[in-house]
Amino acid sequence: MRIMIVGSGGREHALAWKIRESKKVDKLFAIPGNGGISEIAECLDAVNDPVSIADVAVLNKIDFTIVGPEAPLVAGIADTFQDRGLPIFGPIRSGARMEGSKSFAKKMMLKNHIPTGSANLFSDYKSARDYIESSTFPIVIKADGLASGKGVIIAYNLDEAVKAISSCLVDLKFEEAGATVLIEEFLVGEEVSLLAFCDGDRALPLVPAQDYKRIYDDDLGPNTGGMGSYSPIPSVTKNVYEEIVSTVLTPTMEGLKGEGIEYRGMLYAGVILTDNGPKVLEFNARIGDPETQAILPRLESDLLEIMIASSEGDLSNSTLKWSNKKCVSVVLASEGYPENPITKREIFGISQAAKVEGVQIFHAGTKKIDGKTITTGGRVLNVSALGDTYKQARERAYQACELIKFEGKQLRADIAKRAEEVMA
Ligand code: GLY
Repeated sequence: MRIMIVGSGGREHALAWKIRESKKVDKLFAIPGNGGISEIAECLDAVNDPVSIADVAVLNKIDFTIVGPEAPLVAGIADTFQDRGLPIFGPIRSGARMEGSKSFAKKMMLKNHIPTGSANLFSDYKSARDYIESSTFPIVIKADGLASGKGVIIAYNLDEAVKAISSCLVDLKFEEAGATVLIEEFLVGEEVSLLAFCDGDRALPLVPAQDYKRIYDDDLGPNTGGMGSYSPIPSVTKNVYEEIVSTVLTPTMEGLKGEGIEYRGMLYAGVILTDNGPKVLEFNARIGDPETQAILPRLESDLLEIMIASSEGDLSNSTLKWSNKKCVSVVLASEGYPENPITKREIFGISQAAKVEGVQIFHAGTKKIDGKTITTGGRVLNVSALGDTYKQARERAYQACELIKFEGKQLRADIAKRAEEVMA
């Protein structure tokens, strides 16, 4: 089969690496891909709208397309492909609203008794301001639509809350995406990600993972796209896992079906483990980044076969087989990330790092130019390592990180550190 992966990050490199193991694959393409993906797939020139991507799929005789990022899904790429008879992995536009509209997802959760924080919806500044004046802090203010990961603000006092609502509702910082905001209860607990392949009826859950959103150790500094991840998660015991499946994933699939939405593709539940049980923070309509980079090294099943079964609407015969090993994935980021990443710096040592036992390196913001690997984005590389224990996986990952050099390299030193301590 000729397979095309849409996207250019570490998630897409991990997908390409895993998909390539499938005996079904004859040729792999990525649009647009990155420096690492270009070593294992043919990278195609970037086009962004669903119709142009479908044209590229036809031109290159693609048999199956896998979508990484949310923007094309929310724009309806799966609908465009289906209309043209082109097989694709990813939910249709109505399903992608689970990520593209936080108010849609919240209403769905409330209607289907899926545990989540309480929330109110506002489109005008005065009502939002009246509401926050009588709130207790912290509270969470979320732009309704896609805001490149920047639309969630935790306000610790009235001043911060006023700034957040005025940037959305008055200054229209996020344009239409922030013209409606949700003001939500602040939930306290450990955050975990549980993703599931879906076929319209059922959810086939993956192993849990956790990502690290802040730039600095101990969860300090501004939010990023994710500075690392690991899997499995000690706090997600078998009971907790089953509780998330039965109280979140299963009723969500039933709720979507009840709305007439046949959700096929990946459903990502971002869950917080509160003292009152797991509660949903958010849903995404795609595979997580950087969770994928810690999950896929543990997968022993044929990923492509499962994605095809999900896209064809029948996962009844699919099972997922996992390694018992731990996986730790550390992001190497550019100087200045997340605010103003400095790019175009040469990277050294990737091939030595890749020789460390258990290590797999996934590129994100890189490009190959004249035989050199150059940084092109905020998050540059993901160094994933498998080990028999968290300690071993961490040692391997950090040993490899040490061998990779580029000016201004940033990384967190505490990825999976707590898991190592808990399991010691
Ligand atoms: N790891 C968060 C996300 O994929 O949105």
